[in-house]
Amino acid sequence: MYFVANWKMFGNFKSLNQLDKVMTFAKKFKKNKTKLIYCPPATLINAVSKKLKFTTIDVGAQNCHQGLNYGANTGQINSYMLKDAGAKYIILGHSENRQLGEDNNLINLKIRSSIKSGLKIIFCIGETLSQKRKKNTKKILSKQIIQGLKNVSNKRNIIIAYEPVWAIGSGLIPKETEIFDIVSFIKNKVKGSKVLYGGSVNTNNINLLKKIDNVDGFLIGGASQNSNNFIDIIKKTFI
Ligand code: PGA
Repeated sequence: MYFVANWKMFGNFKSLNQLDKVMTFAKKFKKNKTKLIYCPPATLINAVSKKLKFTTIDVGAQNCHQGLNYGANTGQINSYMLKDAGAKYIILGHSENRQLGEDNNLINLKIRSSIKSGLKIIFCIGETLSQKRKKNTKKILSKQIIQGLKNVSNKRNIIIAYEPVWAIGSGLIPKETEIFDIVSFIKNKVKGSKVLYGGSVNTNNINLLKKIDNVDGFLIGGASQNSNNFIDIIKKTFI
């Protein structure tokens, strides 16, 4: 089971203390059954990767520029630089970035450049509330998958995170049967892929979410910023 902590645009050097408890926890807890990945903001990737160096916990980035070469792109960071800073994974296609204008084609370029850099991809897909209401969820997910993974022949290093846009940060989650159905649909489209669920995962609803047996883990935003909550979610998954 994957547990990916997405810190979003939160955290500073003091927040690194949050990792201490999780490091101690990870030493003992079901090592061969859990993969913990911290995705801090880019400013903390190097510090977090140094801190986690002798642990089983990995580090991921949250986005990158689509280009692979160095270049005149003020404010941008390419996937190679993130790898160099210590990232092993990268979240791409997050709806918060789609809302800022990233489309499937741009996400596809980012995925391909990140693969070339040797990063593993956590590829986020999900429908908005109005798309769900119009019963367009599967159509939208299909399009995101087909365009996002265009010309990606080796999908071994792609993990898909199903994150309904309306569930992110809202406290709402789909019904378990809906998640099961969508995750099966995704696994059928991308054979052999691991699929995570993300969107308002917390210490309460994990008791329901963990019962969905085709889900390979969780992408956790708000609740991952507090190590007690993050640990609680992981523990409850296995009770
Ligand atoms: P949330 O965020 O857990 O705060 O809803 C999840 C995400 O955006 O990846």
